[in-house]
Amino acid sequence: MEDTIVEVNYGPLKDLIGVWKGDKGMDVSPESDGIEENPYYETITITTDGDTSVTNAESQKLSTLHYRRLVRRKSNNNIFHDQTGYWMWDAENNVIMHSLNIPRAVSLLAGTKLSENNFKNGKLSFEIEAGIDNKDWGIIQSPFMKQKALTKNYKLKIEIENGKLKYEETTLLDIYGKEFEHTDTNELTLQ
Ligand code: HEM
Repeated sequence: MEDTIVEVNYGPLKDLIGVWKGDKGMDVSPESDGIEENPYYETITITTDGDTSVTNAESQKLSTLHYRRLVRRKSNNNIFHDQTGYWMWDAENNVIMHSLNIPRAVSLLAGTKLSENNFKNGKLSFEIEAGIDNKDWGIIQSPFMKQKALTKNYKLKIEIENGKLKYEETTLLDIYGKEFEHTDTNELTLQ
């Protein structure tokens, strides 16, 4: 029998495919005695590798992209944030989903329903969120992290236009006895 090649409709995800690089990154992260500010550069590689068209429970169809994000400190070129997961799109309901795994034993699934307001003049912009009390979009973390460095909420605002991608990411932590807004921003260009 001949293999059938199915064209995957990536919808809004199609603008994400490729290798993105940006060197205007700024990280604000927690320290026991205050905050740390780290200028950074990063590469985000978003591919159609793997099972890019998935059917769940014989009914929900997802288009999927795999990504890997490697972030390096400008001061010493060492990787200090490593993240992987998937971008997923449910065409029927126009829902976009983002899974995020980091090697601190923290994972989450963020998502949102898109509307035509998210596409204007060739620009795609949207915000996704996950939270420990959010019934749809949750966060999983190890017992140690729950006790010592709890991720309470995660928000990603993203704008994509003509091969340029900008984001603002806010991870709300409960660490060292207080709440801390751990933030990251950058602008990237499609290579
Ligand atoms: C550009 C992206 C990011 C960078 C550069 C970054 C970097 C950092 C740095 C420097 C720290 C302070 C502790 C240390 O020096 O290792 C930290 C702490 C932390 N980050 Fe991030 N981070 C990023 C994104 C995220 C994201 C997306 C999450 C989860 C959703 C996250 C979760 C945490 C947690 C839970 C801690 C507390 C652990 C601790 O300080 O011991 N980070 N991050």
